[in-house]
Amino acid sequence: MQHEKWLARIWIWRLFTILVINCHSYDTTFQHKNEMDVAFSVESSARGAAVNLTCLSKECRPKSWTSFVNEQPSYSPEYGINFLPSAQSWWEPGKDDGIVLQEIHEITKSVLITKVFNTWYAFTYAAEMSWWLDQTKPGRIIVMTVRRSGTYGLSPALRTLAGYGSVLAPFAPAHALWIWIFVKGGKTILECVIDNPFPLKTSLATLHGHASLQNSSMFKAVHEHVHVVHARICNTYPALKSVCEYNSFLKMAQGSSATPQLQGGFKINSELIGILVCAGGSIQHLAYTLQSLLNCSLVSKSIIFVAVGTDRRTGIPNSAIISLLTILHLPYKIIQLPLSATSINHHLFQYYKNAWIAAVEAFPKAKYIAFLDEDVEVSRDWLDFLLHSAPVLERDPTVWCVTGVVAHRFLHPDPHIILRALQQPGWGFLLLAKDVKAAIALWPDTSTVSVLYDNFIYQVVGQGRECIYPVVNRARHYGVGVNTLPQLHQLYFLDHVLHSGEKVMLPPPETLVLSMYEERVKAQLKRAIPLARNPCAPGFLIPPPSESGRDFVFYFYLDNLKFAPEWATLAECIGAWPYSTQGMHQGCAELPQAWGGSLWLVGVPYSPYSYYKPPHIPVWHPNNTDEFFEEQSEFIASISLPVNLPNRTFAFGMSDLLQKSKFSEDGTE
Ligand SMILES: *[C@@H]1O[C@H](CO)[C@@H](O)[C@H](O)[C@H]1NC(C)=O
Ligand SMILES: *[C@@H]1O[C@H](CO)[C@@H](O)[C@H](O)[C@H]1NC(C)=O
Ligand SMILES: *[C@@H]1O[C@H](CO)[C@@H](O)[C@H](O)[C@H]1NC(C)=O
Ligand SMILES: *[C@@H]1O[C@H](CO)[C@@H](O)[C@H](O)[C@H]1NC(C)=O
Ligand SMILES: *[C@@H]1O[C@H](CO)[C@@H](O)[C@H](O)[C@H]1NC(C)=O
Repeated sequence: MQHEKWLARIWIWRLFTILVINCHSYDTTFQHKNEMDVAFSVESSARGAAVNLTCLSKECRPKSWTSFVNEQPSYSPEYGINFLPSAQSWWEPGKDDGIVLQEIHEITKSVLITKVFNTWYAFTYAAEMSWWLDQTKPGRIIVMTVRRSGTYGLSPALRTLAGYGSVLAPFAPAHALWIWIFVKGGKTILECVIDNPFPLKTSLATLHGHASLQNSSMFKAVHEHVHVVHARICNTYPALKSVCEYNSFLKMAQGSSATPQLQGGFKINSELIGILVCAGGSIQHLAYTLQSLLNCSLVSKSIIFVAVGTDRRTGIPNSAIISLLTILHLPYKIIQLPLSATSINHHLFQYYKNAWIAAVEAFPKAKYIAFLDEDVEVSRDWLDFLLHSAPVLERDPTVWCVTGVVAHRFLHPDPHIILRALQQPGWGFLLLAKDVKAAIALWPDTSTVSVLYDNFIYQVVGQGRECIYPVVNRARHYGVGVNTLPQLHQLYFLDHVLHSGEKVMLPPPETLVLSMYEERVKAQLKRAIPLARNPCAPGFLIPPPSESGRDFVFYFYLDNLKFAPEWATLAECIGAWPYSTQGMHQGCAELPQAWGGSLWLVGVPYSPYSYYKPPHIPVWHPNNTDEFFEEQSEFIASISLPVNLPNRTFAFGMSDLLQKSKFSEDGTE
């Protein structure tokens, strides 16, 4: 109890210390001036932000002054599309605004990176920031400051921030100014916050923070470098915990045992399968992805090949990536391309073609080839899952791929369930080597079908065949890349969990072959209870009281897979993939539920399963009036908006901390 009382007092003390506009470090323990190593002077304001880092000792030379003050945020994304909404006027936040993060080397005090997360927007960027913080090596100094606006969309990161010791971020209102300087895995050097309740257009609110860090002995033991190249990578690049932590690196460098393992009587070697890893240019993503891949069961280095991309403008690969692959002993090829591509997507379209060619050359005898992008992590049983289902590709001409990802949301996360659907291969997928060769033969330098390579292969190679997919992800697209739409990315990819990796008994592959699969679908549809409620209102799907394994079916209007506005609305309300009719088998989506049954959505008249609709059950065919769409979008917004906003007030923070204090004063349990 004594301890808690003390803790609560510290909290209260902190709160009062830091709620003032000009705040100073509470690290006042240094005694001699020359022990003070580095001084920070940070500004967060409605007009911009600035970090002044001054080294005071001889050993720590770099000085850095970074100003992010900019009256008119530049707003010209390279890709031609504004993925971020609004920001039409200079006073609205734009791509340079949000939380500015600097990672500072603990010994040299050099700034390893300055990176902006657009957390003034509700989706994706807070999760990306959490990932970045998690990947930062313990011991590094982190400076975070709000540039103009950045706390509105912070909800998904609050747990992470609090976990690393932030006291104030969980209470920072939507337009707060905030500064936090801390040692990853260590103490807070400074944290302060003020509210900024005025519109950014007129507000002149500014928050100043000053702090210093003494040369602490805590940094002495952390550096254990394996050799010069390793040390160079780790002293130069931020967010590389996976390779820069000594034990983690050793594990990756050793890789899995060299002897090929066995599954179902097959040797897992390069005559069975090759894995192509597509390394675009982010060493942080690649390192993290390789860590998950090398930790996968059945994976050994002999079946991995990396295709390294080059910069679209210079034609040069990231040399640190080459160094990393060399010290990890992974085979690779640099994919050289002409510098003439008209856009990043045209460049990628050619990159993938040449990467696929490299994979076929690297694994000339392989029966299957699996593909992994640099920003896709895999579960420990990823390869088990792919190889378990792969034989179906040879037996059934109506399927062409096994993928590691599921697109629909809100499915009961049962790792045993495997389904099939008409869809793009997504991420972490496997194809027959003969289909890979067919794709290469058909692959032009540029395409009129689509320059997005996955859409291109879906149409040209897939040709109406289906993919096999799990209900719980075996692969997860975590990266934020050139074609990321933030809301879609968060709801349909980032929020999907990855299977724990625990080995599970998967259903026999025969059950995925068309004839047996359809038998099951028909049997379940025949018994399913039809629903005739509004799917875009609360209470649409009510779990059955006791009967487990109960199926429900909902009939909606669908006559054309290419134009299906009813499906888009229904899918958004239910949590299925709404952006296309991909994810259906024969015009019917199956969504497994917690009680053991499924919710089936059958498109009438398109689906052959329309046959099971009892005549008295209506087909959901909403009118397309503006009122209808307004009602629907309100409902959809209400189910996807970020949580926790109301709690983020200073008043709530104060009462929360006072309650904690009262609790310990009383000394009660
Ligand atoms: C940065 O901080 C140092 C020491 O605190 C100070 O002397 C210097 O003027 C500051 N530079 C700027 C650009 O504010
Ligand atoms: C700071 O710490 C480093 C590593 O512990 C040491 O080598 C250096 O001499 C120290 N500098 C000062 C000014 O105390
Ligand atoms: C590697 O797999 C083991 C389970 O065998 C798991 O405990 C561990 O967290 C994994 N490590 C990484 C880095 O994913
Ligand atoms: C169309 O939908 C709106 C909103 O749900 C409803 O008020 C209106 O009555 C509907 N019109 C018809 C013709 O069904
Ligand atoms: C937010 O506040 C509500 C009540 O006002 C409470 O039930 C909820 O747990 C709070 N959430 C957090 C994250 O503190």
